[in-house]
Parts: sequence; C-alpha cells; structure tokens
Amino acid sequence: MDSNYWDEKYSVDEFVYTKLENRFVVEYCTSLPGKRAIDLAGGEGRNSVWLAKQGWQVENIDFSEVALDKYLQFAQAEHVAGHCIATCNDAVTFSPQSTPVDLGVIAYLQINQHDLQLAIRRLVDHIAPGGHLFGVWHSRDNLEGGFGGPRDPEVLPNVATITQALEGTGLEILELKNRDGQIQTREGLKPSVTLVLLAKRPE
Ligand SMILES: C[S@@+](CC[C@H](N)C(=O)[O-])C[C@H]1O[C@@H](n2cnc3c(N)ncnc32)[C@H](O)[C@@H]1O
Repeated sequence: MDSNYWDEKYSVDEFVYTKLENRFVVEYCTSLPGKRAIDLAGGEGRNSVWLAKQGWQVENIDFSEVALDKYLQFAQAEHVAGHCIATCNDAVTFSPQSTPVDLGVIAYLQINQHDLQLAIRRLVDHIAPGGHLFGVWHSRDNLEGGFGGPRDPEVLPNVATITQALEGTGLEILELKNRDGQIQTREGLKPSVTLVLLAKRPE
C-alpha cells in the first residue's frame, strides 16, 4: 500500500484511528525518561499528540501528507503545536529533522517484514544511549483465531521477526511478547493478539 492509498484513506473528516492514544503506548511509555521522540508512521498523530502532552518534543514521520496535515491541526487544537513537528518521508529511507532521540515509537506499521526490518533499524540508528524503542503491532499469531488487523502474514511481525530485526543493533530487548486482548467487532468483543516491544540502548 503506497502513500496514495493512505492519503485517500485519511481524506475524511473524522480521525480514522481516532484521537485516542493507543493504550499500549500509554502503558509502556508513560514512565520513560527523555525529551525527544520520533513517532515513526505516526499517521494522524494520536500517539504523537499524547507524547507531546507528556512533555516530549515529537517528530511524526509518515509518508501521508494528508495524515500529517491532520496531525498538525490536531496538535494546534490541543495546544501542543510547539512540541510537534511533521516530516513527510518513507519509513524505510527517512531522515529525521531532530536526532538523536530518547524514544522511538513505531505503532502498527504493518508493512512487509523486509521493509519493517529496514525501518526499525533506521529508527534504532537515531536512538541515543539510554534511549528506548517501543513498538506495537497486530501479531502474526493473531491469525490463529484472533480478530482485527491485516490477514496477510507477510505484514504481521512476530517475536522471531522482531528479534531478527534487532539483531546486531546493540539494543537490549526488555520486553517482546504477545499480549492477549479484545477488539470490538460487529458481533461484539472478540479476542485479539497484539505484539509489543520495549528495547533500550545501553548507556
Ligand atoms: C495503521 S496506520 C497507524 C498510524 C499510527 N501509528 C497510529 O497508531 O494511529 C499505519 C501508518 O503507516 C503509514 N505508513 C505505511 N507505510 C509507510 C511507509 N512506507 N513509510 C511511511 N509511512 C508509512 C501510513 O501512512 C499510516 O499512517
């Protein structure tokens, strides 16, 4: 799916992924130290704006201009525009405006595993000593009886693919596991499996 696909998807008045921050971002990032963050593939900015409200200087890097426009308006409305910048770049080849950072967030970037590995490694390159990487995805294991998210295994990471992506980067994995949860469907709440990652670059 290219940027045109995403621009079209985001060309609606409502926020496709809501303005509500992701619960795993809140759970894992609330107590992390630091000042500067990159939200890679941050879309309309629900997590970027939440991070900015917690005091972070956030750079949302996404290849959808439409999403980034919505994000900047959202940041303005929430009075955190001074903490938020946008960079329209591909996740695989991006160059941040501000580097290094203390936190890299990558939430639901569901692209093929080769490109995801490149995107993660590029993000890791910009994480300062003592900084963290947080990731969250629909898990490949969700295909076995779980609901929600893409159904193509190639765009669904699991513990093995993320472990491989981080090999040789110098990051220490603090947590990498599936979390069982529920997702709202037309037939009510159904089980869903989410993969979460927290890693740290040693001081
Ligand atoms: C499912 S949305 C998640 C958005 C946001 N992280 C969130 O949790 O609300 C996936 C995002 O990835 C972006 N994206 C997909 N492929 C990309 C790529 N190759 N480079 C940059 N952004 C990409 C899309 O534009 C979209 O905003």
